[in-house]
Amino acid sequence: MTAVDAVVGPRSGTIPVAGPWITEREVEAVAAAARGSWYEDATVESRAFETEFAAAVSRRHAIALPSCTSALHLALMALGIGPGDEVVVPESTWIATAAPIDYVGATPVFVDVEPDSWCASIESVSAVLTERTKAILLVDLYGGFPDLLAFEALAAERGIMLIEDAAEAAGGWHGRRAAGSFGQVSTFSFHGSKTLTTGEGGMVLCDDTALHERMLFLRDHGRLPGDFSFRSVEIAWKYKMSELQAALGRVQLARIEELIEKKRAIFGWYRERLADSSLDLNFERADERATFWMVTAVFGEETGVTGASARDALAAEGIATRPFFPPLSSLPAFAKSPDVVRAARENPVSYRLAARGINLPSALMLTEADIDRVCKVIRALVAPTARSVRS
Ligand SMILES: Cc1ncc(COP(=O)(O)O)c(C=O)c1O
Repeated sequence: MTAVDAVVGPRSGTIPVAGPWITEREVEAVAAAARGSWYEDATVESRAFETEFAAAVSRRHAIALPSCTSALHLALMALGIGPGDEVVVPESTWIATAAPIDYVGATPVFVDVEPDSWCASIESVSAVLTERTKAILLVDLYGGFPDLLAFEALAAERGIMLIEDAAEAAGGWHGRRAAGSFGQVSTFSFHGSKTLTTGEGGMVLCDDTALHERMLFLRDHGRLPGDFSFRSVEIAWKYKMSELQAALGRVQLARIEELIEKKRAIFGWYRERLADSSLDLNFERADERATFWMVTAVFGEETGVTGASARDALAAEGIATRPFFPPLSSLPAFAKSPDVVRAARENPVSYRLAARGINLPSALMLTEADIDRVCKVIRALVAPTARSVRS
C-alpha cells in the first residue's frame, strides 16, 4: 500500500496541519458495515475492534467509545474519583485530558513538564502529591512519552492510581511496552486528526475485570450487562461507538505499522532539513517508538522567534500550523480552579514551551516536497547554528 492508494487528501493549495490516510480498504469496510451490521450482527464490528485493539496494546479489556473525552470521564467515574479528590495532570495537554476531572467534581492539580520530552516530570509530580491525591493522569504528548516506568513505580509506592492518556500515541512504545499498557486505565482518541482515525471515536482499556464491568455499566445508562428489561439501576451515561466507525477503525488498526512508518518518515524529513537550526524537535528515548503525531518545533530563546511569529510567517505561505498547547492553568476555563495561582508560578517550562513552540504540518498525506516548502520558511526565520537537535 502506498500514498497513491489514498482516497482522500487535501484539495486546496494550503499545506494542512493534520489529516488521515484513508484507502479503498477503509471505504469498503464502512460500506460493508452499512450493508450488514444490523439485526443479529449489530455489534460485531465494535466487539471485534475492542478485541483487536486490546490485543494490540496487551490489555485484557477494551471498550469502544464516541471519544477519548468520554473514555477519560468513564475511567475517572469507574475509579471512584469525585469531590474532595485531587488528580495530577500535566500543564501541556489538550483541555480534554483535564475537563473530565472537573466533570466528576474532583480538583485538577497542574504540574510542569520536562524540557525535552514535554511530558510531566517526576519531580514536579512528586512535589504536589498529598493525602487527597487519588490519581496521576499522564499524557503521551504529541506521541512522545513521559518516563512511564518511573511513574508506575512512584504510583505503586504511594498507593495512587495511574491513568495513561494515550490519545496521541496509538502505535507507539515506551520501554518496549505498547502505548496504552500503563496504569490501571488507559485511553485513546480516534478523532479525524489522529494517526488512527474513526472520524470521531475513542477507546478505554484496563486489565481489571470489575473495573471493566463498572465502565460497561456506566456507559449504558446504568444497566446491568445483559439486561434487556430497561431497568436502569443508576443514572449514568450513553457512550458508544457506531458499527460504521468500528469498521473503519479495524482497517486503520490493521494498517497501523504503515501509518506510523509514514509519520516517522515525515519527522525524518523535518529532522534532516532542520538539524542545524536553533530549535528543538520531538524527543524519543532509545527504548521508545514515538509516533510523532504532531511534529513540533520549539524555537531557541536566542532566535527571537516566538510561536506566534512563526505561525504568522508560515500562514503567509499557505502553511497551516497549531500553537503548542497553552498551559491549562493559563486557560480562562480554569480561572476559578483552586490550583492555578500556584501552578502559574511553579510551572515555567510549560509556559516557555507555549510561547516558543508550534505544531508543524504532520498530516499523513504530506509529501517530502511539502515538508521542503515548510522547512524553507522555517530556515529563513531561524539562522542555522551549531546547536544540535535532540533524538
Ligand atoms: C491528549 C489528548 N487527550 C484527549 C483528547 C480528546 O480526544 P477526543 O477528541 O477523542 O475526545 C485529545 C484529542 O485531541 C488529546 O490530544
